Amino acid sequence: MEATEKEKISVEDEAVDKTIFRDCSKIAFYRRQKQQLSKNPTYQALLDAVTTEPDRTSFQIVSEATKVPLRVEVYGIEKNIFRLKINEETPLKPRYEVPDVITSKLGTVRMVSCSGDAGSLILTDEKGDLKCHISANPFKIDLVSQDETVLSINSLGQLYFEHLQVPHKQRATKGNQESVPADSSQENQEDLGLWEETFGKFVDVKANGPSSVGLDFSFHGFEYLYGIPQHAESHQLKNTGDGDAYRLYNLDVYGYQIHDKMGIYGSVPYLLAHKQGRTVAVFWLNASETLVEINTEPAVEYVLTQMGPAAAKQKVRCQTDVHWMSESGIIDVFLLTGPTPSDIFKQYSSLTGTQAMPPLFSLGYHQCRWNYEDEQDVKEVDAGFDEHDIPYDVMWLDIEHTEDKKYFTWDKKRFANPKRMQELLRSKRRKLVVISDPHIKVDPDYSVYAKAKEQGFFVKNPEGGDFEGICWPGLSSYLDFTNPKVREWYSSLFAFPVYQGSTDILFIWNDMNEPSVFRGPELTMQKNAVHYGNWEHRELHNIYGFYQQMATAEGLIQRSKGKERPFVLSRSFFAGSQKYGAVWTGDNTAEWNYLKISIPMLLTLSVSGISFCGADVGGFIGNPEAELLVRWYQAGAYQPFFRGHATMNTKRREPWLFGEEYTRLIREAIRERYTLLPYLYSLFYQVHMSSDPVMRPLWVEFPDDVETFGVDDEYMLGSALLVHPVTEPQTTMASVFLPGSNEVRAITDISYGKVQPAAFTYYAKTSTLSLEKLSLSIADDWEVHIR
Ligand code: NOJ
Repeated sequence: MEATEKEKISVEDEAVDKTIFRDCSKIAFYRRQKQQLSKNPTYQALLDAVTTEPDRTSFQIVSEATKVPLRVEVYGIEKNIFRLKINEETPLKPRYEVPDVITSKLGTVRMVSCSGDAGSLILTDEKGDLKCHISANPFKIDLVSQDETVLSINSLGQLYFEHLQVPHKQRATKGNQESVPADSSQENQEDLGLWEETFGKFVDVKANGPSSVGLDFSFHGFEYLYGIPQHAESHQLKNTGDGDAYRLYNLDVYGYQIHDKMGIYGSVPYLLAHKQGRTVAVFWLNASETLVEINTEPAVEYVLTQMGPAAAKQKVRCQTDVHWMSESGIIDVFLLTGPTPSDIFKQYSSLTGTQAMPPLFSLGYHQCRWNYEDEQDVKEVDAGFDEHDIPYDVMWLDIEHTEDKKYFTWDKKRFANPKRMQELLRSKRRKLVVISDPHIKVDPDYSVYAKAKEQGFFVKNPEGGDFEGICWPGLSSYLDFTNPKVREWYSSLFAFPVYQGSTDILFIWNDMNEPSVFRGPELTMQKNAVHYGNWEHRELHNIYGFYQQMATAEGLIQRSKGKERPFVLSRSFFAGSQKYGAVWTGDNTAEWNYLKISIPMLLTLSVSGISFCGADVGGFIGNPEAELLVRWYQAGAYQPFFRGHATMNTKRREPWLFGEEYTRLIREAIRERYTLLPYLYSLFYQVHMSSDPVMRPLWVEFPDDVETFGVDDEYMLGSALLVHPVTEPQTTMASVFLPGSNEVRAITDISYGKVQPAAFTYYAKTSTLSLEKLSLSIADDWEVHIR
């Protein structure tokens, strides 16, 4: 079965067909939670039977409605982190707990219980500056720091936990009728999608029935929230209206819509809240489909008139409520208490790992296109950079370099001698990146397929056979990267003797790993496909791509016997993907607003642990006019991952194809990138060692300056450079916000020249890095530097 032309390449300029994707109203667990929560169910904590172990304190909670006991565990973790786990006391069978994300063993902190009245329990670490107040009825937890309640959990009573039940059929035979929910009419069951959920022609049959979880968090005094990538949205998270939650569900959305909360390629269920004097964060460790609702109540001032002659005033701080809902798994949440942004970055990376230190070449400029046709094409493009005196480091080959989209092979006609091609690149100290996707062509003569099939390494369908779906090669099976044996085997495929035609200048790009399945529900894998350990795909959908990148990076490390740092770009990602390489923002469009949105999208990734990120320069879909292309190069030169890329049906757009003047401007932008390389490389060392992101929203560098909190059209690269890219056509003036300065705004006349100038850079007085090496000077205050 072949992928159709339409599947191979979507029509240019086609808007996203949103009917392919589900919104909240079409998500059964969302409807169920809303319906049940409207009945105000409450949980009560049984605090007269608290168990204390060296690393945790635990007790039961019970809901009035279900009477099914849940176990709550509270852990104190080094670096001022709390962990809260809620699971069924005795589930029918184990529920999925996300493995492999949390780095080594966490250092726990002994929590002691100090006084609390009968209806409450107070836990504190030995230093006593952080306290966890647990109230019994209704059950809620307040995190208190220096007598200030920073965060409350379940104060809105949105704790929700569907306990596993005996399936209907078995129930009937067992005569176990009493656990059937009150309203179990056929119609209602269908509507609530308990055991079966329909979306268009797709039917999701749920072997374990309903298993969703949810919980609310209230951030006191906070109105600025960030994180939960990936969405094509502003950096500051917005309030969500009815049915408009931020969705975390990894999907292949070609030409995704801007300013939309739908899920795209990757998910990091991690959210930060910031105010003057404190940053806190919540890491919701769950890999199933997740929805996040946000609601900020502004600060109010009441005048109390009945208090006597002098009217008393009472202030109520603003508060932001966040409601997390996941389709399955358990509640496993880490509460990071800051207090500074830098502390938060350290706390989060102590859980999920720091950004891998990239090889220096990967911070240079990358030239990609779907596709460079053959060896001759590669040679000509490579020579073009030399002829036009434009530096670049990496040539990329997309899926057409393979034989029939069989990864680890080469198209014999187009790339007859891949080693010769790599030798040419090597002679100029350049590298090659080739693509390797997770789908494997069903073809018994393809050794990767045959070996994986023989060893049972593919994801299974519910009937127990190999799952098969359509992707680039036509009918394909999908490697089950959640299985450590599959990862080990996949890693071994990158060994030089195994991967024919590969050399040590070849690196890897993992694409389509949400995973993308062309005729599947929402273009992905059905949720009842089965993985290693008999887990349904629904449990771990969002972490599938993470595992492919992990196995690929490991393969590259092993092939060099542990000597070389790997470079792996992945489209899909999860919390912790930073340990394995870089990510990008997928199939963007050659339009000004996509250039503009790339900044908040990358800032959000950056504060969520993933510093090595970029957007396709020029826009993947469509043909950018020369001015847009130049502006995109100028912006991209200051973004961590810098790659030009374009889809198949676009016009060629190598940097020298738009006339002398534009070539000069692009050359200057790329050269500027190279001038900055030592600085950028140092910033990566800094994020790798001590977690401060490379690309920083202004609020991170100026955490007490409220004016910076909502800014996402400019940012800091490290602590020394402020970057304000030009993202509008025919710009002649730019108004640049200069935080922490007397001169708060610089109006810069940039009307001279044709597409002058690039992103603006400002050098901050606060810099601790020596910029002398870059022959740039640090001014007493901000210094405007226009290229
Ligand atoms: C989708 C990716 O997002 C894009 O970058 C790539 O060129 C195509 N797949 C073809 O591999």
